[in-house]
Order: sequence, then structure tokens, then C-alpha cells
Amino acid sequence: MAIRRWPVLVASVLPADFADLGGQVQQLEKAGVDRIQWDVMDGRFVPNLTFGPDVIAATRDLVELGFEAHLMVEAPDPMLDRWVAAGCELIIVHAEASTHLHRTLGRIHELGARAGVALNPATPLSAVEHVLDLVDLLLVMTVNPGFGGQSYLASMAPKIAEARALIDRRGLDIELEVDGGIGVETIGDAARAGATVFCAGSALFPGAGPAGMAERVAALRTAATEAVPA
Ligand code: DX5
Repeated sequence: MAIRRWPVLVASVLPADFADLGGQVQQLEKAGVDRIQWDVMDGRFVPNLTFGPDVIAATRDLVELGFEAHLMVEAPDPMLDRWVAAGCELIIVHAEASTHLHRTLGRIHELGARAGVALNPATPLSAVEHVLDLVDLLLVMTVNPGFGGQSYLASMAPKIAEARALIDRRGLDIELEVDGGIGVETIGDAARAGATVFCAGSALFPGAGPAGMAERVAALRTAATEAVPA
């Protein structure tokens, strides 16, 4: 179910304390984020390895928040059902990892989940223009995927704006998400370009400074709202 308010704040658990993932997702819910992003990595599509469906399932009943699985994997199709069964309501595949993207997006819908597609920084918007009727969320990566704590790529702003214009021109109900290097200094740039969903990891966790998680969530909301006059 798409969240209607703006901005939608999604917490990446990539920088979380992996020894206490259950407690961390509960803390994120308490702090006021709108959704949790599980950064699934297979060590091949990206040079990192993270969570399987059983890890996600272990935390599912601890919070009410929606879960999105960001599949940074070479072969997303064989395990689509596993991510849905683990409790993810939104499955995001990479256009670069999907030989048959139209079929994959349709399969995600058959499984009862919403379908998202992610674009790496070098991938043009044209890679998804013929499947937008099957897309519930478009994720424009603002870093090269694989790790948290990277710097926001301001060069992605034109692609975000182009995606915004395309979605609006076609009158589509598609969430436009950005992910990578999102913090109080950068969220405004992405918001002005037309993003509606903001995935943040490092900016939410203790390494970002003394403030508490709720303060950080509020600061991100304020920075986004102030950047885009009503
Ligand atoms: C990239 C990851 C990160 C993560 C958030 O592969 O997907 O973008 O979600 O990382 P931060 O917010 O720390 O840049």
C-alpha cells in the first residue's frame, strides 16, 4: 500500500547493528520512519553480502512498518516468492539485473507485492520507459550500490527530474525514491528534483552524531519540506 504523505522516509538497515536487528527496526519505527529497506546483496551484483529472507522474516512481526526488499542481486527471479513470504510488501529489482524485466515485474504482482525497479547511476531512464505500467516504485540510485556511507551523487538530479516529468506526464501513480548519501545536506536537492521517497541509512544511525534517531528523522523531514515550497 503506497504511503500518501510527503516526504516518505525509508530507513535502510545497512548501517544498523546486525547483532540486534530486531531492536533496531523497533527503534526505527519508534523514531517515526515510514518504511524499512532491506538492502539485499549477493556479493556478485555488488561487492557485498547481506541479508537472506529468513533474517528479514525474523523481524517481520516486531513492527507494523512496511518492508521493502532492495534486491542488489544478479538473479532476482528465483527467490521472488521468498522475499514476499518473508514479509516484504514491496520488491525492488535492478533493471540491470533483469533480462526479462517486464516478466519479473508481472511476477512480483502475481505474488501479491508491489513492484519496484532500481536504476544504477549510469543507467538511463529509457531502460524502464516501456514497463512503467507495471511499476509501483522507481528507485533512482544516488550512489553506486554496495555500501552505505557514500557521498550523494548530485549529478543524478537531472535523472530524478526527468523521472518526475515522465511520471507526471503519463499521470502514473509511481513512487519516486532516491537512495544513497541522503542526509540533511542532500535531501533538499533530491526533493527539488522531484523525489517523493527518501531512503537514508547512515544519516539515521548513531555514527551521524549525538542526536537521537527521532531527531534525525524529524530533521530529514524538515530539510525536505523546507526545500520544496508548498
Ligand atoms: C547502497 C545502499 C545504501 C543504503 C543507504 O547500496 O542501498 O544506499 O541503502 O546508505 P546511506 O544512506 O548510508 O548512503
